[in-house]
Amino acid sequence: RQPVDSPLYPLLSAAADFYRHALKSHPARQAAVDYLKGRGLSGVIARDFGLGFAPPGWDNLMKHMGGDSLQEKALIDAGLLIENAEGRRYDRFRDRVMFPIRDSRGRVIAFGGRVLGDDKPKYLNSPETPVFHKGQELYGLYEARKNNRDLDEIMVVEGYMDVIALAQQGLRNAVATLGTATSEEHIKRLFRLVPNILFCFDGDQAGRKAAWRALEACLPSLQDGRRARFLFLPEGEDPDSLVRKEGPDAFRARISQQAQPLADYFFRHLMEEADPATLEGKAHLATLAAPLLDQLPGANLRALMRQRLGEITGLGNEALGRLANAPTNDV
Ligand code: GTP
Ligand code: MN
Ligand code: MN
Ligand code: MN
Ligand code: MN
Repeated sequence: RQPVDSPLYPLLSAAADFYRHALKSHPARQAAVDYLKGRGLSGVIARDFGLGFAPPGWDNLMKHMGGDSLQEKALIDAGLLIENAEGRRYDRFRDRVMFPIRDSRGRVIAFGGRVLGDDKPKYLNSPETPVFHKGQELYGLYEARKNNRDLDEIMVVEGYMDVIALAQQGLRNAVATLGTATSEEHIKRLFRLVPNILFCFDGDQAGRKAAWRALEACLPSLQDGRRARFLFLPEGEDPDSLVRKEGPDAFRARISQQAQPLADYFFRHLMEEADPATLEGKAHLATLAAPLLDQLPGANLRALMRQRLGEITGLGNEALGRLANAPTNDV
């Protein structure tokens, strides 16, 4: 997945040290410290996730890392410096709180940086590099595994701050995709580590859309014995805001009382797309559902969900079986 060795690793590690050190002692650090405190983060959790601060200015990191043009070239390859059209080189991350992204072995492979205020873009991520492939990595996975000997379920959330706020409240099994949709790659990776995945996206339109995409990404990996669940949050909340508002016990209670098994969410969502009170709706529902169910590798869950689809639509196995192989429109 990742190159065994690359000259970029020591550079990224040194950059993480620099940012971490700046959060502790740079003259401009107070704004970043106040920002993190304002978001309820403790010093302990900040240290645990290696949070840092990229000071304001165009060349703090560049100067710190010193070196010749070759070194600067390597820093560009690592995504830490940018070279503009005129050949001028400058720090990519400026005046941001820095979240180091680690691979499964704990090596720093990239960064996310958040503005301290309301500027845009809110988050800036490292570009794709030889050691960083956005669509495969999950923020917090290294920390989740390190802190849980017998990890049984992983929670997938949207953002860095969700992962960290949950961890601070004792829910230390959350990971986040890096501003991309949950991919089949992500899911395969998680199911190699744990039998259970819980999706908990933001209580907004984007979060609900992300949940259905995550469901679709799960289908090809959902062998019998594996389980995916979905927890939908109140409108306007994300895991970070909610766990800080309610506390960990209420959040855990939500999970145990309200998390929906994939099969339940599947039918509920499709029944919103196609009204099963009419024959046309039933026909549409079957057309939408059958090819998705066909992707399930687990023969038992597949059979049970087909049966449920039959109950909802009144269609028999034979008709549903024909549908599974027919071309359809996307949901
Ligand atoms: P906070 O405001 O810090 O709580 O962020 P959030 O994580 O709640 O942000 P939001 O729900 O808006 O977005 C979820 C995730 O999408 C973030 O954690 C980022 O990974 C990503 N994201 C959000 N805004 C941006 C952006 O401006 N640029 C990029 N590249 N990614 C973003
Ligand atoms: Mn959101
Ligand atoms: Mn959010
Ligand atoms: Mn948030
Ligand atoms: Mn839909």
